[in-house]
Amino acid sequence: MAPRIVVAGSANMDLVGLAERLPRPGETVLGDDFLMMPGGKGANQAIAATRAGGHTCFLGAIGSDSFGVSLNAQLNGAGVDMTHVRTTYGVSGVAVIMVDRAGENSILVAPGANNAFTGLTEAEKATIADGDVLLCQQEIPVETVIEAARAARAGGTRFVLNAAPARELPPELLEHVDLLVVNEVEALSITGGDDIDVPALLALVPRVVLTLGGAGSRYADRDGRDEHVPSYRVQVTDTTAAGDAFTAALAVAWGEGRDLVEAVRWANAAGAACVRKVGASNSLPTRAEIDEIYRG
Ligand code: RIB
Repeated sequence: MAPRIVVAGSANMDLVGLAERLPRPGETVLGDDFLMMPGGKGANQAIAATRAGGHTCFLGAIGSDSFGVSLNAQLNGAGVDMTHVRTTYGVSGVAVIMVDRAGENSILVAPGANNAFTGLTEAEKATIADGDVLLCQQEIPVETVIEAARAARAGGTRFVLNAAPARELPPELLEHVDLLVVNEVEALSITGGDDIDVPALLALVPRVVLTLGGAGSRYADRDGRDEHVPSYRVQVTDTTAAGDAFTAALAVAWGEGRDLVEAVRWANAAGAACVRKVGASNSLPTRAEIDEIYRG
């Protein structure tokens, strides 16, 4: 049976400028192209989890503007359960994204409706408690993530926190985390210092996955496992949403009961499949595409 994945998070309209290189502060660069497409770490992970084989429910807030119409259409079209999604009067979340010709990006998020996703209803909490895995990121108010994490703990649902973008993580959130997914920037923002400190992360949460871009990922836990999982070689077009594809595939694989190192290997394949295409929600791979890379 498909694992039940609940994603409580953001939905943004992504406004994407493509250019030879990213502008420096104060500089204007003439770009190559412009694209507008649905994104947001929460919505991306909900769509990615569905495509990867999960039965996925999205919890969040979307604006009543025209961007909101497109965001709802994209999530519904992908087969995500949208029963509890809130419509908030006003603007949806927006992400202003710049991508260079090497596929690197920089992103500015204006949260809009995402900031109105507060005070979980009993129905939302029950949905989390009924899930196999709760997946959250940090583009919604932290109080909401804490409430969701508590509902997960109460229901015996595993809680995966993708601590992106880097923000302060209060202890009352960390105490509920079963698996923390971070990139190097996010890891350093949690532990401080100049070097990645996995033992310091494991003092906070029982399991950590550190994503290392082209170098793959590292899985470590309090039982003493610490393994590097290499990446797959693919042509990189755009790294946007690669972390979302990775985290969602990891949640699905864990929900299916796979060993976590194997789950990370499969998630690496999802990230690799994602970077081959431009964009966020439209570049998220299907289960067949992930398997194709995974099997080599
Ligand atoms: O992870 C990629 C996402 O980050 C984009 O879709 C953008 O909306 C930002 O939230």
